[in-house]
Amino acid sequence: MDAQFKSLAINLVRITEAAAIAAGRYVGKGQKIEGDGAAVDAMRKAFSSIEMKGVVIIGEGEKDEAPMLYNGEKVGNGKGLELDIAIDPVEGTNLLALGRPNAIAVVGAAPKGAMYNPGPSYYMQKLVVPKEAKDVVDIDAPVKENLKNVAKEIGKSVEDLVVFVLDKPRHSKLISEIREAGARIQLHTDGDVAGSLLAVDPCGDCDVMMGVGGTPEGVISACAIKAIGGEMFSRLAPQSEEEKQSLIDYGIDLKEILSVDTLVKGSDVFFAATGISGGTFLSGIDYTNKGASSNSMVLNSRTGTVRHIKSFHQMDKINQYT
Ligand code: FBP
Repeated sequence: MDAQFKSLAINLVRITEAAAIAAGRYVGKGQKIEGDGAAVDAMRKAFSSIEMKGVVIIGEGEKDEAPMLYNGEKVGNGKGLELDIAIDPVEGTNLLALGRPNAIAVVGAAPKGAMYNPGPSYYMQKLVVPKEAKDVVDIDAPVKENLKNVAKEIGKSVEDLVVFVLDKPRHSKLISEIREAGARIQLHTDGDVAGSLLAVDPCGDCDVMMGVGGTPEGVISACAIKAIGGEMFSRLAPQSEEEKQSLIDYGIDLKEILSVDTLVKGSDVFFAATGISGGTFLSGIDYTNKGASSNSMVLNSRTGTVRHIKSFHQMDKINQYT
């Protein structure tokens, strides 16, 4: 494997660590814009020291709406690999502001041209399952049938399963169907990237992630699922007539079922996440007078390596990038 790709996996974690250390100061402070802004600034600064010619394909905001990392923004020091970048400096801004579990900083990277461009899509229906169950589910099948098939493949009964669902009014029918099937549910107000990864991670405390969440979050999750294994079947699911019309105008096929391989092509896909507020996915940032410790996950899809990295950052060094 190209040495540049190998070091990329580790370099990405520097970016999510910087964002998480900056945003961690805002846990529970009720300041979601300020917390997000601090993470964006730290991420942008960290990117500038990393060798890559990156372009943000999945970002947020539009150009000139500082402090967002906007779609099309060039990141990296302008040398080396040409990469598509998917980022969310704070995935779960409400979780951060309210001090709830599983706010994380995430970044995915793949060679130029590898990432799906979702156009003006905000929402996507997702069904995420562990790798043993990837051939036995269908996004259009009844919930009960999918859960029965997943349970069988992973060696559990349906009653043992835990399904991660975003706690949104749009999911009331889905939640009833999961309960009727007999499975257990974790309802989270936000954070379906963590939910997707908990579903595919053999050590995660969920078995399946279902429901409609953000489209950018879907592409970011695909970068990680590619490395851990498992599958996400998804389909764009506009939540307003305006969103639907803009997708039609953009020429997107609303019926197409998107797999992980469609969302991010090839095998050189890299992902890093660092915990901000803590939770079952990744522990959060812990500050002391001497510095801060962070917990991250780094994934390399070519080798399938899953690294958990605990780092200590000295306060005087932290001040250089926050
Ligand atoms: P933000 O970090 O942008 O606030 O997104 C959080 C999130 O919960 C995602 O995890 C999820 O995919 C999306 O929002 C769901 O959107 P909505 O809250 O509009 O239903």
